[in-house]
Amino acid sequence: MARDKTLIIGNWKMNLGVHDSSLYLHKLAKVVKIHRNVEVVIAPTILALQTLSVQVNLRQIKLAAQNFYYRDHGAYTGEVSATMLRGIVQYVLVGHSERRHVFHESDKDIRAKVQAAIRNDIRPILCVGETAGEKAADETKDVLFDQLIGGLANVTSEELEKIVIAYEPVWAIGTGKNALPPDVTFAIQAIRSQLKHLYGAKAAANIQVLYGGSVTADSAAAYLELPDVDGLLIGGASLDAHIFSGIIEKAYTIKK
Ligand code: PGA
Repeated sequence: MARDKTLIIGNWKMNLGVHDSSLYLHKLAKVVKIHRNVEVVIAPTILALQTLSVQVNLRQIKLAAQNFYYRDHGAYTGEVSATMLRGIVQYVLVGHSERRHVFHESDKDIRAKVQAAIRNDIRPILCVGETAGEKAADETKDVLFDQLIGGLANVTSEELEKIVIAYEPVWAIGTGKNALPPDVTFAIQAIRSQLKHLYGAKAAANIQVLYGGSVTADSAAAYLELPDVDGLLIGGASLDAHIFSGIIEKAYTIKK
Protein backbone atom coordinates (compact mmCIF):
# COMPACT_ATOMS: atom_id res chain seq x y z
CA MET A 1 0.00 0.00 0.00
CA ALA A 2 1.34 3.39 -0.86
CA ARG A 3 1.25 6.28 1.58
CA ASP A 4 -2.19 7.52 0.57
CA LYS A 5 -3.81 5.98 3.64
CA THR A 6 -3.17 6.79 7.27
CA LEU A 7 -2.81 3.61 9.30
CA ILE A 8 -4.23 3.61 12.82
CA ILE A 9 -3.36 0.43 14.71
CA GLY A 10 -4.55 -0.55 18.17
CA ASN A 11 -2.29 -2.98 20.03
CA TRP A 12 -4.28 -4.38 22.93
CA LYS A 13 -1.33 -6.42 24.25
CA MET A 14 -2.35 -8.95 26.96
CA ASN A 15 -5.66 -7.20 27.69
CA LEU A 16 -9.28 -8.05 26.83
CA GLY A 17 -10.25 -11.73 26.64
CA VAL A 18 -12.33 -13.25 23.85
CA HIS A 19 -15.66 -11.97 25.14
CA ASP A 20 -14.42 -8.43 25.84
CA SER A 21 -12.62 -8.31 22.48
CA SER A 22 -15.84 -9.20 20.73
CA LEU A 23 -17.79 -6.56 22.69
CA TYR A 24 -15.14 -3.96 21.88
CA LEU A 25 -15.27 -4.72 18.17
CA HIS A 26 -19.03 -4.44 18.24
CA LYS A 27 -18.77 -1.04 19.94
CA LEU A 28 -16.02 0.22 17.65
CA ALA A 29 -17.86 -0.87 14.50
CA LYS A 30 -20.85 1.15 15.68
CA VAL A 31 -19.00 4.38 16.43
CA VAL A 32 -16.26 4.41 13.81
CA LYS A 33 -16.88 5.94 10.40
CA ILE A 34 -15.32 4.38 7.31
CA HIS A 35 -13.00 6.79 5.59
CA ARG A 36 -11.17 5.84 2.46
CA ASN A 37 -8.01 7.61 3.59
CA VAL A 38 -7.73 5.78 6.93
CA GLU A 39 -6.99 2.09 7.51
CA VAL A 40 -8.02 0.88 10.96
CA VAL A 41 -6.34 -2.20 12.42
CA ILE A 42 -6.79 -3.87 15.80
CA ALA A 43 -4.43 -6.41 17.36
CA PRO A 44 -6.32 -8.38 20.03
CA THR A 45 -5.15 -11.45 21.93
CA ILE A 46 -4.42 -14.30 19.54
CA LEU A 47 -7.25 -16.26 21.23
CA ALA A 48 -9.85 -13.78 19.95
CA LEU A 49 -8.65 -13.57 16.36
CA GLN A 50 -10.75 -16.40 15.00
CA THR A 51 -13.96 -15.05 16.57
CA LEU A 52 -13.22 -11.49 15.48
CA SER A 53 -12.35 -12.56 11.95
CA VAL A 54 -15.89 -13.89 11.56
CA GLN A 55 -17.44 -10.84 13.23
CA VAL A 56 -15.43 -8.09 11.54
CA ASN A 57 -16.39 -6.16 8.44
CA LEU A 58 -13.04 -6.09 6.66
CA ARG A 59 -13.98 -3.02 4.66
CA GLN A 60 -14.14 -1.19 7.97
CA ILE A 61 -11.53 -2.75 10.25
CA LYS A 62 -8.58 -5.08 9.68
CA LEU A 63 -6.99 -7.53 12.12
CA ALA A 64 -3.39 -7.99 13.23
CA ALA A 65 -1.66 -10.67 15.29
CA GLN A 66 0.61 -9.45 18.07
CA ASN A 67 2.98 -12.37 17.71
CA PHE A 68 3.60 -15.72 15.93
CA TYR A 69 6.41 -18.17 15.27
CA TYR A 70 8.41 -18.00 12.05
CA ARG A 71 8.22 -21.68 11.05
CA ASP A 72 5.10 -22.61 9.10
CA HIS A 73 4.39 -25.90 10.95
CA GLY A 74 6.10 -28.67 12.89
CA ALA A 75 7.08 -29.76 16.39
CA TYR A 76 7.01 -26.33 18.09
CA THR A 77 4.84 -26.85 21.14
CA GLY A 78 2.72 -23.88 22.05
CA GLU A 79 3.43 -21.83 18.94
CA VAL A 80 1.17 -20.37 16.25
CA SER A 81 2.48 -19.85 12.71
CA ALA A 82 1.86 -17.21 10.07
CA THR A 83 0.45 -20.04 7.93
CA MET A 84 -2.21 -20.60 10.60
CA LEU A 85 -2.93 -16.86 10.73
CA ARG A 86 -3.22 -16.55 6.96
CA GLY A 87 -6.75 -15.57 5.99
CA ILE A 88 -7.52 -14.54 9.57
CA VAL A 89 -5.30 -11.48 9.90
CA GLN A 90 -4.06 -8.95 7.36
CA TYR A 91 -1.17 -7.66 9.50
CA VAL A 92 1.28 -8.92 12.14
CA LEU A 93 3.45 -7.00 14.58
CA VAL A 94 7.12 -7.95 14.38
CA GLY A 95 9.96 -6.81 16.62
CA HIS A 96 7.79 -4.96 19.13
CA SER A 97 9.97 -3.70 21.96
CA GLU A 98 8.22 -5.98 24.47
CA ARG A 99 9.11 -8.97 22.26
CA ARG A 100 12.70 -7.75 21.91
CA HIS A 101 13.23 -6.85 25.57
CA VAL A 102 10.94 -9.08 27.64
CA PHE A 103 11.18 -12.17 25.42
CA HIS A 104 14.69 -11.52 24.08
CA GLU A 105 13.84 -11.84 20.42
CA SER A 106 16.93 -11.33 18.31
CA ASP A 107 17.32 -9.64 14.95
CA LYS A 108 17.63 -13.15 13.50
CA ASP A 109 14.19 -14.11 14.91
CA ILE A 110 12.72 -10.83 13.73
CA ARG A 111 14.13 -11.24 10.23
CA ALA A 112 12.70 -14.76 10.03
CA LYS A 113 9.29 -13.46 11.15
CA VAL A 114 9.30 -10.72 8.51
CA GLN A 115 10.00 -13.41 5.93
CA ALA A 116 7.32 -15.74 7.30
CA ALA A 117 4.71 -12.97 7.19
CA ILE A 118 5.54 -12.08 3.59
CA ARG A 119 5.58 -15.75 2.58
CA ASN A 120 2.07 -16.07 4.00
CA ASP A 121 0.66 -12.88 2.45
CA ILE A 122 0.41 -10.98 5.72
CA ARG A 123 1.80 -7.45 6.03
CA PRO A 124 4.49 -7.21 8.72
CA ILE A 125 4.64 -4.10 10.89
CA LEU A 126 8.32 -3.97 11.81
CA CYS A 127 8.84 -2.05 15.07
CA VAL A 128 12.12 -0.27 15.72
CA GLY A 129 13.25 2.16 18.39
CA GLU A 130 15.98 3.10 20.82
CA THR A 131 16.08 2.69 24.61
CA ALA A 132 16.44 5.64 27.00
CA GLY A 133 20.14 4.84 27.46
CA GLU A 134 20.74 4.73 23.71
CA LYS A 135 18.94 8.05 23.29
CA ALA A 136 21.02 9.63 26.06
CA ALA A 137 24.18 8.36 24.37
CA ASP A 138 23.01 9.91 21.06
CA GLU A 139 22.82 6.46 19.44
CA THR A 140 19.27 6.65 18.07
CA LYS A 141 20.32 6.70 14.41
CA ASP A 142 22.75 3.80 14.82
CA VAL A 143 20.20 1.69 16.67
CA LEU A 144 17.56 2.31 14.01
CA PHE A 145 20.01 1.44 11.25
CA ASP A 146 21.01 -1.79 13.00
CA GLN A 147 17.41 -2.82 13.60
CA LEU A 148 16.42 -2.07 10.01
CA ILE A 149 19.35 -3.97 8.55
CA GLY A 150 18.75 -6.78 11.03
CA GLY A 151 15.04 -7.06 10.32
CA LEU A 152 15.09 -6.51 6.57
CA ALA A 153 18.23 -8.43 5.60
CA ASN A 154 16.45 -10.86 3.27
CA VAL A 155 13.76 -8.51 1.97
CA THR A 156 13.76 -7.55 -1.73
CA SER A 157 12.68 -4.11 -2.93
CA GLU A 158 9.43 -5.61 -4.22
CA GLU A 159 8.72 -7.12 -0.82
CA LEU A 160 9.54 -3.85 0.93
CA GLU A 161 6.29 -2.37 -0.40
CA LYS A 162 4.35 -4.82 1.77
CA ILE A 163 6.13 -3.79 4.95
CA VAL A 164 5.13 -1.10 7.41
CA ILE A 165 7.74 0.36 9.77
CA ALA A 166 6.73 1.61 13.23
CA TYR A 167 9.10 3.94 15.04
CA GLU A 168 8.52 3.24 18.72
CA PRO A 169 11.12 4.58 21.13
CA VAL A 170 11.32 2.01 23.93
CA TRP A 171 11.32 4.71 26.61
CA ALA A 172 8.02 6.07 25.27
CA ILE A 173 6.07 2.81 25.30
CA GLY A 174 3.55 2.59 28.12
CA THR A 175 5.35 5.29 30.11
CA GLY A 176 3.29 8.40 29.35
CA LYS A 177 6.51 10.02 28.06
CA ASN A 178 5.67 10.43 24.42
CA ALA A 179 8.39 11.56 22.02
CA LEU A 180 8.50 15.17 20.89
CA PRO A 181 7.28 15.65 17.31
CA PRO A 182 10.65 17.05 16.08
CA ASP A 183 12.39 13.97 17.51
CA VAL A 184 9.91 11.74 15.68
CA THR A 185 10.60 13.58 12.43
CA PHE A 186 14.35 13.20 13.02
CA ALA A 187 14.03 9.44 13.63
CA ILE A 188 11.67 8.79 10.72
CA GLN A 189 13.87 10.77 8.35
CA ALA A 190 16.80 8.66 9.54
CA ILE A 191 14.74 5.53 8.81
CA ARG A 192 13.89 6.72 5.30
CA SER A 193 17.48 7.70 4.61
CA GLN A 194 18.64 4.22 5.60
CA LEU A 195 15.95 2.63 3.43
CA LYS A 196 17.03 4.87 0.56
CA HIS A 197 20.56 3.63 0.98
CA LEU A 198 19.35 0.00 0.98
CA TYR A 199 16.52 0.10 -1.56
CA GLY A 200 16.68 3.38 -3.50
CA ALA A 201 14.83 6.68 -3.32
CA LYS A 202 11.46 5.49 -4.64
CA ALA A 203 11.09 2.59 -2.22
CA ALA A 204 12.14 4.81 0.69
CA ALA A 205 9.66 7.51 -0.25
CA ASN A 206 6.79 5.02 -0.64
CA ILE A 207 7.08 2.99 2.56
CA GLN A 208 4.61 3.68 5.37
CA VAL A 209 6.23 4.71 8.65
CA LEU A 210 4.21 5.05 11.86
CA TYR A 211 4.88 6.54 15.28
CA GLY A 212 4.04 4.68 18.50
CA GLY A 213 4.66 5.30 22.19
CA SER A 214 2.19 6.77 24.72
CA VAL A 215 -0.02 8.28 22.03
CA THR A 216 -3.22 9.72 23.54
CA ALA A 217 -6.33 11.41 22.19
CA ASP A 218 -4.62 14.71 23.00
CA SER A 219 -1.21 14.02 21.48
CA ALA A 220 -2.31 12.12 18.35
CA ALA A 221 -2.89 15.18 16.15
CA ALA A 222 0.63 16.53 16.68
CA TYR A 223 2.06 13.34 15.12
CA LEU A 224 -0.54 12.97 12.40
CA GLU A 225 0.28 16.49 11.23
CA LEU A 226 3.93 15.57 10.61
CA PRO A 227 4.51 14.97 6.88
CA ASP A 228 6.77 11.98 7.61
CA VAL A 229 4.26 10.16 9.84
CA ASP A 230 1.83 7.86 8.02
CA GLY A 231 -0.08 6.64 11.05
CA LEU A 232 0.04 5.58 14.67
CA LEU A 233 0.58 2.39 16.68
CA ILE A 234 -1.40 2.83 19.86
CA GLY A 235 -1.33 0.68 22.98
CA GLY A 236 -3.06 1.97 26.14
CA ALA A 237 -5.27 4.57 24.42
CA SER A 238 -6.63 1.94 22.01
CA LEU A 239 -8.25 -0.02 24.86
CA ASP A 240 -11.14 2.43 24.96
CA ALA A 241 -13.23 2.23 21.77
CA HIS A 242 -14.39 5.86 22.07
CA ILE A 243 -10.89 7.25 22.51
CA PHE A 244 -9.61 5.04 19.68
CA SER A 245 -12.38 6.10 17.32
CA GLY A 246 -11.71 9.76 18.25
CA ILE A 247 -8.10 9.28 17.10
CA ILE A 248 -9.33 7.64 13.89
CA GLU A 249 -11.56 10.65 13.26
CA LYS A 250 -8.56 12.96 13.77
CA ALA A 251 -6.59 10.95 11.22
CA TYR A 252 -9.42 11.45 8.76
CA THR A 253 -9.53 15.22 9.20
CA ILE A 254 -5.75 15.70 9.20
CA LYS A 255 -4.75 13.55 6.23
CA LYS A 256 -4.33 13.19 3.21
P1 PGA B 1 1.48 2.62 24.39
O1 PGA B 1 1.97 1.34 23.56
O2 PGA B 1 0.64 3.44 23.42
O3 PGA B 1 0.66 2.07 25.52
O4 PGA B 1 2.69 3.35 24.81
C1 PGA B 1 2.40 1.45 22.24
C2 PGA B 1 2.85 0.11 21.73
O5 PGA B 1 3.34 -0.70 22.53
O6 PGA B 1 2.77 -0.18 20.54
